[in-house]
Amino acid sequence: MKERIELVQGDITAMDVDAVVNAANKSLLGGGGVDGAIHRAAGPELPAECRTLGGCDTGDAKITRGYNLKARHVIHTVGPIYRGGVSGEPRLLESCYRRCFEVAHDNSLTSLAFPSISTGAYGYPIEDASGIALSTTLEQLKRFPEIERVVFALFSPSDLAIYEKKLQQL
Ligand code: AR6
Repeated sequence: MKERIELVQGDITAMDVDAVVNAANKSLLGGGGVDGAIHRAAGPELPAECRTLGGCDTGDAKITRGYNLKARHVIHTVGPIYRGGVSGEPRLLESCYRRCFEVAHDNSLTSLAFPSISTGAYGYPIEDASGIALSTTLEQLKRFPEIERVVFALFSPSDLAIYEKKLQQL
């Protein structure tokens, strides 16, 4: 399963995959961080489509087209805001990754790129979040054999190093 996971440092908006995953907020109307970068790169048609979706619950995911991105689609998911880890955050973060795979499967997609969901503005400690991201991905790759390639596009070298270490430990 691990051979289908790639860890890279880079900007997710440049990824050549069927869908890039956006770490959005419940409004799906755009924001800062990776959400802002994806919206800037995709162009104004993206928020226009997002406005038709009626928002998204924390832990859920919704798909749109990718417009000016190389990726044909964007899967928008809403990670939990970290409040000490005792408010159901692990279960909700796991649900984000699982729902992204389910949406990818429902749309016959075979390659995905994820950012590190919730570990920026939403404050989830990346040591814990990376373990949930990678272990959930391994489970979902078992479930969906047609998904050939999952890229984690980590923004900083230190985030990449944390993911690399975590993947080795799994
Ligand atoms: N490519 C890859 N990763 C990136 C990029 C990029 N272009 N830009 C930032 N990151 P965040 P969250 C990394 O804050 O914590 C937004 O305003 C970043 O370094 O984007 O889920 C939304 O609208 C960090 O490691 O997402 C929500 O309101 C990771 O992406 C809120 O932020 C996630 O950081 C969501 O917060």
